[in-house]
Amino acid sequence: MSDTWRHELEAIREQAMASLALASDSKALNDWRVEVLGKKSALGQMSKAMGGLAPEDRRVLGEALNRIRQELEQAWRSRQAEIEAKEKALRLERERIDVTLPGRDVPLGAMHPISRVIEEIEDIFVSLGFSVVEGPEVETDHYNFELLNIPKDHPARDMQDTFYLTDEWLLRTHTSPMQVRTMERMRGRTPIRVIVPGRVYRRDEDDATHSHQFTQIEGLVVDEGIRMSDLKGTLEAFAKALFGPSQRVRLRPSYFPFTEPSCEVDLVCVSCGGSGCRMCKGTGWIEILGAGMVHPRVLDMSGYDSARYTGFAFGLGAERIAMLRYGISDIRMLYQNDLRFLRQFRHA
Ligand code: PHE
Repeated sequence: MSDTWRHELEAIREQAMASLALASDSKALNDWRVEVLGKKSALGQMSKAMGGLAPEDRRVLGEALNRIRQELEQAWRSRQAEIEAKEKALRLERERIDVTLPGRDVPLGAMHPISRVIEEIEDIFVSLGFSVVEGPEVETDHYNFELLNIPKDHPARDMQDTFYLTDEWLLRTHTSPMQVRTMERMRGRTPIRVIVPGRVYRRDEDDATHSHQFTQIEGLVVDEGIRMSDLKGTLEAFAKALFGPSQRVRLRPSYFPFTEPSCEVDLVCVSCGGSGCRMCKGTGWIEILGAGMVHPRVLDMSGYDSARYTGFAFGLGAERIAMLRYGISDIRMLYQNDLRFLRQFRHA
């Protein structure tokens, strides 16, 4: 083999090793491989040119080329391993997570006391076999009044000062229109056992005990043979579930146009246990809801023959229950969304 080749090969080898040492990332390494070992590289050219040599020269040069090629490939592999290790270490360093860092506080909301009370009351009645339904807050005069046996000139309309939207449309003043809507939807089928939570609206001056918007939970049961004692038993079970086993209810005669007879229902005062205090004005009882036997006329207008079916209904104020339960003295706190107030319910 001529010395020229030997020198040339040695020069290629040296230069390649030098530039390999400079390749510092996988891209440079790749470029190096193409440049040094590829078809168009100096080595590649020499392999091609070998064809024109005498057999003996070809063998010697071929061996030399192979050796140098293998040596360079080996060098490339170990350089590659180095660079890979370095890049991996870098990546690990960059993606490092300090698992000992204390966590960041996730701002945690609290369920609103009215929502809590609604859920709690729903659970109680669902366990008694009721289902939960909801209805529209924008109602018609027809459902809010007429079908509940409150005609236009009826004095009972003054009991519920109404936000009228038009002559016929209004913001419902109570959830009782859902009595009618439920019976219509059931088309004469029985039994009906529903409760209806929802917002209602009245033209009241807001003060500590009144709000122009508040929340009612309506109850309705219709079947054959439903009696006042069913109403009382149901409400007593409800009172015990909500305020403890020693609770009792008391029914006082009252008047609603859509129930007959009608009553107001009291609980044993949750503050004094019945002995009489400021909260119950010394009576030992607190009023929590209005109720009664569904008026025969309401049953008939809703498609239930009052000669065959009877039912009871009740309507309670969720705010009042929430205030009793959590010792809230001003109903407006439930609507001002003051975080200092609301945050107190985070762990309640
Ligand atoms: N709707 C009545 C009110 O808002 C409450 C009520 C409901 C009374 C059902 C009797 C039966 O005052």
